[in-house]
Amino acid sequence: MPEKGVNPVFHPCVFWPNAWLQKRFPILTGAVFLGMLIIWSIGGCTIRDRVSFWRNRQDYLTLKLQAAFNHSQDHDNLTYFSNSLGPVNRTDSHTNLIHKDHDISQSPASPPQSEVVSHQNVTAVSDEKPHQSLTHLPTLSNFSWISVQVEPNLTSNLLSRWLDPGGEPCRDSRTVDIRIPGLDDQKPVELSAGKIHEFVIQALDQSGKPRCLGGDYFETDLSGESWKTRPPVRDLGNGSYSLSLQVHPNFTGEYNLTVILLFRHFEGLKFSPHRFAYDRELRRIPVKFYRSNATLPQIRTCRKSDFSRDVWSGRWTRHGKNDDCKISNDGRYRCLNLDFPCQKPWCEGSLGSLESNGWVYSTHCAFRIFIADSAWKCLQNRWIFFWGDSNHVDTIRNLLNFVFDLPEIKAVPRRFDMNFTNPRNRMQTVRITSIFNGHWNETQNYEGLNSLQDEEYRNLLKRYFSEETVPDTIVMNSGLHDGVHWKNVRRFTQGAEYAARFWKDVIESVKGRGKRAPEVVYRTTIATGGYARVLAFNPSKMEVFNGVLLEKLKGAGIVSGVIDDFDMTFPWHYDNRCNDGVHYGRAPAKLKWRDGEIGHQYFVDLMLCHVILNALCAR
Ligand SMILES: *[C@@H]1O[C@H](CO)[C@@H](O)[C@H](O)[C@H]1NC(C)=O
Ligand SMILES: *[C@@H]1O[C@H](CO)[C@@H](O)[C@H](O)[C@H]1NC(C)=O
Ligand SMILES: *[C@@H]1O[C@H](CO)[C@@H](O)[C@H](O)[C@H]1NC(C)=O
Ligand SMILES: *[C@@H]1O[C@H](CO)[C@@H](O)[C@H](O)[C@H]1NC(C)=O
Ligand SMILES: *[C@@H]1O[C@H](CO)[C@@H](O)[C@H](O)[C@H]1NC(C)=O
Ligand SMILES: *[C@@H]1O[C@H](CO)[C@@H](O)[C@H](O)[C@H]1NC(C)=O
Ligand SMILES: *[C@@H]1O[C@H](CO)[C@@H](O)[C@H](O)[C@H]1NC(C)=O
Ligand SMILES: *[C@@H]1O[C@H](CO)[C@@H](O)[C@H](O)[C@H]1NC(C)=O
Ligand SMILES: *[C@@H]1O[C@H](CO)[C@@H](O)[C@H](O)[C@H]1NC(C)=O
Ligand SMILES: *[C@@H]1O[C@H](CO)[C@@H](O)[C@H](O)[C@H]1NC(C)=O
Ligand SMILES: *[C@@H]1O[C@H](CO)[C@@H](O)[C@H](O)[C@H]1NC(C)=O
Ligand SMILES: *[C@@H]1O[C@H](CO)[C@@H](O)[C@H](O)[C@H]1NC(C)=O
Repeated sequence: MPEKGVNPVFHPCVFWPNAWLQKRFPILTGAVFLGMLIIWSIGGCTIRDRVSFWRNRQDYLTLKLQAAFNHSQDHDNLTYFSNSLGPVNRTDSHTNLIHKDHDISQSPASPPQSEVVSHQNVTAVSDEKPHQSLTHLPTLSNFSWISVQVEPNLTSNLLSRWLDPGGEPCRDSRTVDIRIPGLDDQKPVELSAGKIHEFVIQALDQSGKPRCLGGDYFETDLSGESWKTRPPVRDLGNGSYSLSLQVHPNFTGEYNLTVILLFRHFEGLKFSPHRFAYDRELRRIPVKFYRSNATLPQIRTCRKSDFSRDVWSGRWTRHGKNDDCKISNDGRYRCLNLDFPCQKPWCEGSLGSLESNGWVYSTHCAFRIFIADSAWKCLQNRWIFFWGDSNHVDTIRNLLNFVFDLPEIKAVPRRFDMNFTNPRNRMQTVRITSIFNGHWNETQNYEGLNSLQDEEYRNLLKRYFSEETVPDTIVMNSGLHDGVHWKNVRRFTQGAEYAARFWKDVIESVKGRGKRAPEVVYRTTIATGGYARVLAFNPSKMEVFNGVLLEKLKGAGIVSGVIDDFDMTFPWHYDNRCNDGVHYGRAPAKLKWRDGEIGHQYFVDLMLCHVILNALCAR
């Protein structure tokens, strides 16, 4: 993207860790924050915005050195990725695995859910009849996809387990290790692809005895060459946890199953959880998935009704790869040709434009990857209202830059209301309004849903719904700022109830004026990454907060669709390659990222842009 208009200056930014965080988390203390003062203009109106980055001085210097931007594509050398049953050179029915070491720079490990987990009911739910024509092999069994469900009464069950955990004999012991019968004792571990394999993780205390209380938060990760997923974990409440593994039959080969114990017994939910973080990798088990005759229900492109699912259990799959790909001077990873196609059924459209070096996310349905024309056509004459944190700010800018092809927009502020016009078709405009909800004061942080206690702020929001025309869709999220604000889950629950009532009233008042009520798409908040995994907005707490808020909004009857960004970000949250801890969508830039490496990968947020468009445009 052109450098024009970017004018980096230092700010003594308040944005990031506040004083208590700094004190307790010394790694952060050394950081110097760089703010960018960005001035840009659209349609004659000039907008000034301060975007804070967590960058150190070196980053700043790097940025200055990158004045000359080079738009030429880095490389067009790509390798078609063939999965084991792929069309490429299949001489026999055996798995023909290609082992290429790719350095996607993620650390492996990942997550199940912790406390929240207990409400997730992992079941094999098949939406459709097995698709016989998918493969020419005879069908041995009709398997279904892993899916997770939210336990009914999540909040009340969670609160009661938290307040009265039971399990007296285990109260004083703590989990230090685990045992996974069936995995620990089998070497090498070989499992058939297609099937859902269930195992039990038994938590063990210091003396090696089984624990009888739940609440531990495990991060689980199942990663292979071209498949990354978070195997669901369900807390059985008695010290055992069920773990489910599954890969599609086309993705046989070598995997690692990683299990990290991040927090023990709900400790991630505490107000200052970092002191309690356990964060130890307890297992990294090589697993070989071998070929079977199994078939799975076909994944189809998402329809509107697919967004009614509250929690997703998807996976990232890889369908292309360019080993020589390097970051370009404008911070972009143009590893595959722009028109590098999606492989059915994992996505539809051009995979190259995701700039993910071949990775794409799919879940119980697969997503369409938009191009500018289709995106404009979908959103023309619409009014989309965003209510959320700085991740929304990034996502909106990325949507405008990458999908709507408006690269001149270097940033959007935390609050704005604007009409955008397609430069190639002036008839197509979309109105986007975005109101930050980290604080009622747009320059401050860490109020989250409590922002709604401010009357002026409530009136600001209501005003947009009292005009002659009203937004047709609201996209909302919350969580990160809440993680810092609320003393405990019970207080957060009250904040979530208040928010649900507020929005219900807003929508009722629109209906009361005889207008069509806006649809509400709830987008769960991200899995915070790297160093942020142990802080006040750790994944364990964010997962609970996502579940509680969604339950309250659904209870108010106002949710028309859900996008589970938590699941989407989870496989990339172990380090800071794809996030700075709290954002996945920072603007591309060729400079040192948090982990000291040059550049960062923004494709996880680009994927979200497309998923949002799917939710807004699917029928
Ligand atoms: C851009 O990069 C290409 C290939 O790396 C190089 O040939 C070209 O000279 C560069 N252009 C500028 C303006 O630096
Ligand atoms: C593309 O990659 C292959 C294998 O990595 C290499 O042999 C070939 O020289 C590369 N081609 C170009 C044009 O860089
Ligand atoms: C699996 O591989 C077969 C053979 O290449 C292909 O026809 C089929 O579409 C693939 N299925 C999926 C879901 O990728
Ligand atoms: C298929 O694989 C075999 C052995 O791996 C190799 O000898 C052959 O050249 C390959 N054929 C094609 C078309 O790539
Ligand atoms: C999981 O959900 C299914 C269907 O909703 C239900 O039949 C089953 O009893 C649940 N299992 C558990 C352990 O809650
Ligand atoms: C599997 O398919 C057979 C017939 O093809 C059917 O009778 C059986 O109920 C199916 N099992 C499940 C678990 O769906
Ligand atoms: C959920 O809570 C409500 C009210 O407390 C209760 O009536 C209902 O039975 C509960 N449902 C489940 C599945 O626990
Ligand atoms: C824990 O609970 C599960 C589900 O209720 C049960 O199947 C399992 O046997 C229990 N484990 C122990 C060690 O009691
Ligand atoms: C599994 O982990 C090991 C050790 O970290 C690593 O060397 C290997 O490449 C991983 N394998 C896969 C398939 O990711
Ligand atoms: C797959 O089906 C074929 C033909 O029915 C059978 O011979 C073979 O053993 C099956 N393979 C597996 C792994 O079940
Ligand atoms: C955007 O356009 C609508 C009508 O299409 C108009 O009512 C509104 O004031 C415009 N908003 C801005 C910020 O220009
Ligand atoms: C917002 O906070 C800033 C300090 O961060 C303060 O200067 C400003 O007056 C506040 N604005 C409002 C409307 O309260």
